[in-house]
Amino acid sequence: MKEKLKQLVENLQNELKTCEKEADVLNVKSKYIGKNSEINTFLSSLKDMTPEEKKINGPLLNQMKKELEELVEKKLEDLNNADHITFDETKPIERIHGSLHPITIVSKEVTDILKRMGFTVVAGPEMESEYYNFEALNIPKTHPARDMQDTYWLDNGLLLRTHTSPNQVRAMQNYGAPIRICAPGRCFRNEDVDACHENTFFQLEGMVIDKNISISNLIYVMESLLKEIFQKDVRVRLRPGFFPFTEPSFELDCSCLICGGTGCPTCKNSGWLELCPCGMIHPNVLRMSNIDPNVYTGFAFGLGLTRLAMMKYKIGDIRVLNNGDLRELKNFELE
Ligand code: DAH
Repeated sequence: MKEKLKQLVENLQNELKTCEKEADVLNVKSKYIGKNSEINTFLSSLKDMTPEEKKINGPLLNQMKKELEELVEKKLEDLNNADHITFDETKPIERIHGSLHPITIVSKEVTDILKRMGFTVVAGPEMESEYYNFEALNIPKTHPARDMQDTYWLDNGLLLRTHTSPNQVRAMQNYGAPIRICAPGRCFRNEDVDACHENTFFQLEGMVIDKNISISNLIYVMESLLKEIFQKDVRVRLRPGFFPFTEPSFELDCSCLICGGTGCPTCKNSGWLELCPCGMIHPNVLRMSNIDPNVYTGFAFGLGLTRLAMMKYKIGDIRVLNNGDLRELKNFELE
């Protein structure tokens, strides 16, 4: 009997060694200490033994069963602990590098170029007042232009700015003329989100006010800026546009970056890409911010940073930029 029991312990130990998960151990447990296990068969045979045999085998069997149980418990505990040990101090530390967001990079590139051209970078609040977002930009309450910007109104009477243009007004009022500023920032409109539309997007506002500023200055600055951004010889053209805060207003196109202007599918064979709305600052806007339109003139532009980032990094779906999915952003692996 003693030999048999010793063998039993040895077998159990060997089988436990091969167990890799809890379920394996439980199977072994049921085989060695379960209802129909050998040890239980021995235990139930005690009743047929003589009192002397019982005296010797009883404690022995109980002792052995306890030993088997302890071995199983120990193995379960080991497996459980192994599950929790994820830190191996001998393993080299894997450094996970973050990278700048495509919009951050484009924004920095553009502001760096503008800074070299003498622009100061300013910032304004994302939660704006109706006055700065509309009124002071010559868009009074009843103006139909308000309908073009489906606005998020807040309970506190403020709104989420629909464009970066309020920065024009804040800068004019804070610093007066002459002035040269740019203001990158996040804007919000109630858009139905799809591959080309987002309710949260980035613009960069630019504004120059001085004596004798004309459309030629606007064209020159935009052309120089775009040449630097795209590192290509681009030409620009102006088409008539409408914005209440500029007069005249323009849509600025640049020669297609893919074909250079000869016509291709990207530019729908026109040779031009629509890039940025702009114009000469409306005298009312200057006047409302205490700048005399008879002395000063200026131009302004609103560059779509989101669109620029998508063009630069060939991002087909705008949603990738805002969903915070690092796996997707990792695809661009920037700096
Ligand atoms: N703020 C305008 C928009 O988001 C864009 C714009 C147009 C900005 C003309 C300007 C400008 O500075 O001069 O629709």
